[in-house]
Amino acid sequence: MAVLPVLAYPDPRLQRVSAPVECFDDDLRKFVGDLTETMYAGPGGVGIAAPQVDRLQRIVLVDVRPKLGEDCHGLMVLVNPELVAWEGMAVGREGCMSVPDFTGNVIRAEKIQIQARDVQGRDHFYECEGFEARAVQHEMDHLDGLLFLDRLVSRKTDLFRRKKYQPREP
Ligand code: NI
Repeated sequence: MAVLPVLAYPDPRLQRVSAPVECFDDDLRKFVGDLTETMYAGPGGVGIAAPQVDRLQRIVLVDVRPKLGEDCHGLMVLVNPELVAWEGMAVGREGCMSVPDFTGNVIRAEKIQIQARDVQGRDHFYECEGFEARAVQHEMDHLDGLLFLDRLVSRKTDLFRRKKYQPREP
């Protein structure tokens, strides 16, 4: 497996729309392995989408255990995911491996239902809520060329520069 380079905003390649996966073969499984390693290598990485590593396919990974512990689905591999139902709305803070210097407040559905395939092409159904639902919606946005920056209600009040941790003076 390999850690892949992640595209960073404002790279225009992040705005492209990804195509559905049609071939559930060894190449797909190898890529998903590399994408998983890339997500876990990122600081606080709880999700990643294939277009972030310049592969225009509808594949997202989410694993919010670093934030929620075991109270979630663990690693979700969502190939060709479809949002089939949603309810409620909540504001929450988001970051992104492609936007390393900022976080932002974004409105998302609180509860969602998702249909997706796995790397073998089998169908799965998931219900997610709270932070996990937020992460899935954030990653699915990447498949349509959208970043959380595109969903801020206001750049003035909803965008925050990440704190830089400077080495302490001797
Ligand atoms: Ni992101």
